[in-house]
Amino acid sequence: MNRKPIFAANWKMNKGPSETEIFLKSFLPKIHGQDFPCEIVIAPPFVSLPKISEILRDASAGSDGQPVRIGAQDCSCHDAGAYTGEVSVFMLRELLVQYAIVGHSERRTIQGESDTLIHAKLRKAREAMLKPVFCIGETLAQRESGELERVLSTQVAEGLRGLDPKDVLETVIAYEPVWAIGTGVTASSAQAQEAHALVRSLVAGLHGADAASRVRILYGGSVKPDNAAELMACPDIDGALVGGASLEPQSFFEIIRRGCGRP
Ligand code: 13P
Repeated sequence: MNRKPIFAANWKMNKGPSETEIFLKSFLPKIHGQDFPCEIVIAPPFVSLPKISEILRDASAGSDGQPVRIGAQDCSCHDAGAYTGEVSVFMLRELLVQYAIVGHSERRTIQGESDTLIHAKLRKAREAMLKPVFCIGETLAQRESGELERVLSTQVAEGLRGLDPKDVLETVIAYEPVWAIGTGVTASSAQAQEAHALVRSLVAGLHGADAASRVRILYGGSVKPDNAAELMACPDIDGALVGGASLEPQSFFEIIRRGCGRP
């Protein structure tokens, strides 16, 4: 099954508008004309979305498409109203956002987001035709106590519960083992492949073999230029969600280049 890889940068709480501009001035010329067979997504903080959309609109003027797609790091599960600090999916659409990360482990842990809330956000993102990047993953304690399958199975079942087949296909799953995020410890390619195959089988159980063979599953957790090619060679890994190593234009470029198998 032909699944187009995605390399997505999750900048977390880094880079306001001026640093976003500096990054893009360096990064866009690097990818220009490379025609990588993948989608490149950058998810900056909310306040930098107007800047990135303005720069990408200008960069794509007169050419046949935007070189980079824009992601948001979160979205509200509500339409509008008295939700201080929240940003709606419709506001994101106005800024040309195409992807929205939901359920990142930092939000699950620090903001206490539940599977139910994450499911509501995922559904709301689809209402606005955004592609959710739905994050799942186990902690080290859960892995070591043999709970990997139970944890992933609950997260996948709760997140994708009752979705239309089309919405499942427009959702991108990101498997991010919590113990590998920002720690410098990467899951081995064997561990990552095993978890990705498990997630794909869980999707098959919920939404059928066709959806499972077409849905894209990204790996996240200390992805770097040095391990991108090995991870991407795994049959069930369809790209990467990159934190720290996406903050520097050359390193994000190298992840994409090596991940696409370019010499
Ligand atoms: P690091 O690449 O910094 O480990 O972060 C991964 C991540 O959380 C991406 O969403």
